[in-house]
Amino acid sequence: MTSLSEKIKKCVLGAALAILKKKIVANDLVLEFPENETFGDYSTNFALHSWPESGFKNPSEFAAALAIKLRKDNDLAKIVSKIEVAGPGFINFWLKKEILIENLGEILKRKEKYGVSQINKDKTAIVEYSSPNIAKPFTIGHLRSTIIGDAIANLLQATGWKVYRDNHLGDWGTQFGKMIYAIKTWGDEEEIAKSENPVKDLVALYVKFHEQAEKNPSLEDEARKWFKKLEDGDGEAKRLWQKCVDWSWLIFDKIYSKLGVVFSRDFEGGRGLGESFFENRMKAVIDELEEKKLLQVGKEGAKLVFFEKDKYPPAMILKKDGATLYHTRDLATDKYRLEKYNPDLIINEVGAEQTLYFRQLFEMEKLLGWYKDGQRVHVGHGLIRFKEGKMSTRKGNVVWMEEVLQEAQKRAVELGSNDTKLAETVSVDALKYNDLKRDPKTEIVFDWDEIINMKGNSGPYLQYTHARCQGVLEKAKMNGQKTGFDKKEFLTPESGELSILRWLTKFPDIVVQAAEQYAPNLICNYLFNLAQKFNFFYSRGRIIGSEKESSRLALTQAVAQVLKNGLDLLGIKAPEKM
Ligand code: ARG
Repeated sequence: MTSLSEKIKKCVLGAALAILKKKIVANDLVLEFPENETFGDYSTNFALHSWPESGFKNPSEFAAALAIKLRKDNDLAKIVSKIEVAGPGFINFWLKKEILIENLGEILKRKEKYGVSQINKDKTAIVEYSSPNIAKPFTIGHLRSTIIGDAIANLLQATGWKVYRDNHLGDWGTQFGKMIYAIKTWGDEEEIAKSENPVKDLVALYVKFHEQAEKNPSLEDEARKWFKKLEDGDGEAKRLWQKCVDWSWLIFDKIYSKLGVVFSRDFEGGRGLGESFFENRMKAVIDELEEKKLLQVGKEGAKLVFFEKDKYPPAMILKKDGATLYHTRDLATDKYRLEKYNPDLIINEVGAEQTLYFRQLFEMEKLLGWYKDGQRVHVGHGLIRFKEGKMSTRKGNVVWMEEVLQEAQKRAVELGSNDTKLAETVSVDALKYNDLKRDPKTEIVFDWDEIINMKGNSGPYLQYTHARCQGVLEKAKMNGQKTGFDKKEFLTPESGELSILRWLTKFPDIVVQAAEQYAPNLICNYLFNLAQKFNFFYSRGRIIGSEKESSRLALTQAVAQVLKNGLDLLGIKAPEKM
């Protein structure tokens, strides 16, 4: 099924070709979906940026010429009622009322499929997110990654991608040398196992290691030795490492189940392929780097990859003592992914502070000839700031995720719900929405009053609006109202109705746009707008008992459906009642 915007695009490309007498690449043409209806349902600045080759005096004359052609286009006339040139050369389009009403029927017919497309079928993506570290706290940064990454994976899936969801656990590296040394020296395995949150005990041991190592630097050598043992497969080292993994998963499992997030079963049955999985796949990477003459020996004997014109600092691949690094493991990961899945796209949802790290990684993968530009994407989320400042595992001032989730629930209960299950859903979803509603790059100051809020741009507000729609529909059903609607009632839609009808047509386009830009926040904006439009309409007129009952109910049903479809994409539930 071609979307409305695709149809319009095709006509504009046709008109441009007739005037410019040259083929236009579809990518040169961007259609916007203005929120403000005075700019039409769709708008394009195509004339503005391509007028120099048009021979016209200025962009607006070029736009006017295009508009004249477009007004004569019979295909376009089937869906568009008005075409106008505005400002310095924008072309704005208004959809026909019939099309808006037809689209409403489409929503009610396609239900949860409305907004879903197959435009990327046959393409494979790996979306990697969450990626917490073993024996360290699951931080609020990991929470952001989990929430945003999951939503991005949903968006890709909704536009036809085959998506694999991976969790790149930090379960390998020199820190395990420190951890093992600390457990053996100061720890009590039985006590840790009995602890309510074993990770807390492990973090305390880790902090102790750093305190002691400051006084006695030789501890660092001890730790290095333990890591070397681990790499060499020493039994005791492996046993303690495995304990750390198991203890950490006690916590991770709880968090993922609360969030309702799952990873692909392909990857260790849904746990993700952590760094340790690539332990014996690193040699092949090093060999390939050597073979392609990409490794150089640095001053201190380490092996590094240098970049052309020093555009990035060199990336260390092997330490002097032969130990591998974070980059080495990421290279092994992406080689494995290439060989096993040959993906068109790999996304890493990881904090923005690792931006340089990923630039280096992607550049190396290009030099190796594995991936081309655009196939490797880092979606970097900004920091979450607490009023107390940034967190650091080494110093031990940590915000525990379990506590954040508990606090969220407490606050949701305070909102007045005595249904604890519902309060739990609403509170977790409120946290999710708070992360998703902004461009992922922006920093967030964590503010409970903003998160759990029934009125502003929040999760509970959208859920509440959905439940309100459901309430109306439920009541109509009890009154014996049949489904289906009388199109004639829409012949004179009031402005509130018209504005909702218009906005509903945009949803499939917004889903595509959000998927292309890896931007769940576009869905949030869209839904917030829809909810506001509906609530405005609801506060002004009657639905049940009005002379336009059937069409208004259909509109309500469509709004509920689109809210639900949108929330689904965000990984947020849409309860029937609140
Ligand atoms: N475990 C890392 C951390 O907590 C994130 C891993 C990100 N993914 C990757 N492929 N490097 O910082």
